[in-house]
Amino acid sequence: MTIDLLAKPPSARTGSQHLRELEDALGTHFDTWVKVGDQWECRSADYDYKDLSHELIYAACSAVWNTRRPVVKELEVGVTLVAFPWKDSATRSTQVLATIIASASSKLLLFALNQTLKAEQQQEELEGLRDENLAFLRQVTEDFEELTFLRSMAEQLTLENSSQGLNHLTNYTLSLLGQLVGIEQLYYLENVKGKSHVSAVWNEFEETTNSLSNWQIESVVDGFSGQLNGKPLVRNKVKPLELGNGIRTIKELIIVPVSTTRTRIGWLVAINRKKNNTENRAEPKWNLSQNELGSRETSLLTTAAAMLGSHSNNLALFDEREKLLVNVVRTLVSAIDSRDPYTCGHSERVALYAKRLASEIGLSDEACEKIYLTGLLHDLGKIGIQDSVLKKDGPLTPKEYAEIQQHPDFGWSILQDLEQFNYVLPGVLHHHERYDGQGYPDQLHGDETPLEGRLLAVVDAFDAMTSTRTYRPSMPLEKAINILAEGAGTQWDSDIVDAFLRVMPEIQEIRDSYRRPPLPKRTQHATSSLVETTTEVPVAV
Ligand SMILES: [Fe+2]
Repeated sequence: MTIDLLAKPPSARTGSQHLRELEDALGTHFDTWVKVGDQWECRSADYDYKDLSHELIYAACSAVWNTRRPVVKELEVGVTLVAFPWKDSATRSTQVLATIIASASSKLLLFALNQTLKAEQQQEELEGLRDENLAFLRQVTEDFEELTFLRSMAEQLTLENSSQGLNHLTNYTLSLLGQLVGIEQLYYLENVKGKSHVSAVWNEFEETTNSLSNWQIESVVDGFSGQLNGKPLVRNKVKPLELGNGIRTIKELIIVPVSTTRTRIGWLVAINRKKNNTENRAEPKWNLSQNELGSRETSLLTTAAAMLGSHSNNLALFDEREKLLVNVVRTLVSAIDSRDPYTCGHSERVALYAKRLASEIGLSDEACEKIYLTGLLHDLGKIGIQDSVLKKDGPLTPKEYAEIQQHPDFGWSILQDLEQFNYVLPGVLHHHERYDGQGYPDQLHGDETPLEGRLLAVVDAFDAMTSTRTYRPSMPLEKAINILAEGAGTQWDSDIVDAFLRVMPEIQEIRDSYRRPPLPKRTQHATSSLVETTTEVPVAV
């Protein structure tokens, strides 16, 4: 057998640096052999071993395949068949690379081959480690982002913005999730009598043809809500037919119900995975599809939904507590006011006027509510004044007047132990101070009197002047207004009087429409709620 060695220049193989170096050293290039069934096929276009028996190369390929080791076989003097296993970088499948070269030293060839394979294996291990590092880095980054998300959400879970309900938190949540999760569109839909209603939207792109109208997203949620059973719904590769209404832009979808302990209040909805340009990024090989919504997105949305549900629960409880508090105070004050039919309703009117005036001078909604409650309680201390003085029909003696002047202190003493009502104390104690320092109990001057006191002083005087008393009829409105204007800067803070006169039309409206609700008339006796079920007494037969 005479082997005609072809002049085979090194290939421009782009795969492995080590392979290229081996080919350069040997002055040849290797043909790629692939096992197809029981046969071996050469995938190199220029394969031509001419006189070499195919059986010889098949046998060499099989030996390599079975042992996963190189084969070096001297075919004749100066002609050697070389074959060795190789992992294709694209398909990760094992192939056999083979060629015939002129070489007298099989040992040297084997050494070179083994060194190349070893170097290649090390390279592969390095790449694996790099991929692992990238995956860990990504995981750490995601964990950090999720922790940041949770912390940011937790910071928003205060009851300070309770007047805005959930709106503030839902908008904030969508914005945070949108930046973190890699979603094109996020929605929060409220549950309104079993139907969804879009209440907050976050969009990756400000202007996009892919945006859905509210009715479309509502129809999608209403369509799927029956399948949720309180659990998240995750759909990838959504087909337009599933959605109906001609919606073609939803490819990926997550719907997560938001519930309180009592009821479902809404749904968080994520639409379409944001498409990242990852062509130039080194991605771990086992990284799953970048175009699908998966467990990470669902987990974050579920966490957000749980926090929204919990916060809504807290807001409802807080609201109930506030209402209960106000109702208890109103009932208490009403009981005190009713001691004197002529001052009946005074505290509630003062509270209503004070709240409107507080709003006019620019106080927050929360501060206005506090002023309202302070107004209700401002004369609570009158509970400690004797009826003979409180209801006296005629001018008071100096001693009686001194007793009356004790009611701010009495009020303070009653309320100062109640921590929840600490904010009413300045108004209760100082609503009879005068701007010129001639008031009581502490003769405070000007702005020394707390704002609540200066504000209540104006509305308290106005209601006293415009209400009928035992010893005089109510004063005409114009006269009361003139007295307030004349006393601005001496008896009262002129800025507050000015503000009060600005809102006088609304104050008049409140005054004209104020009617104490009549007490409900009892129609039946009250039953105990302590025992829910009655036990039947057995009857002897
Ligand atoms: Fe008073």
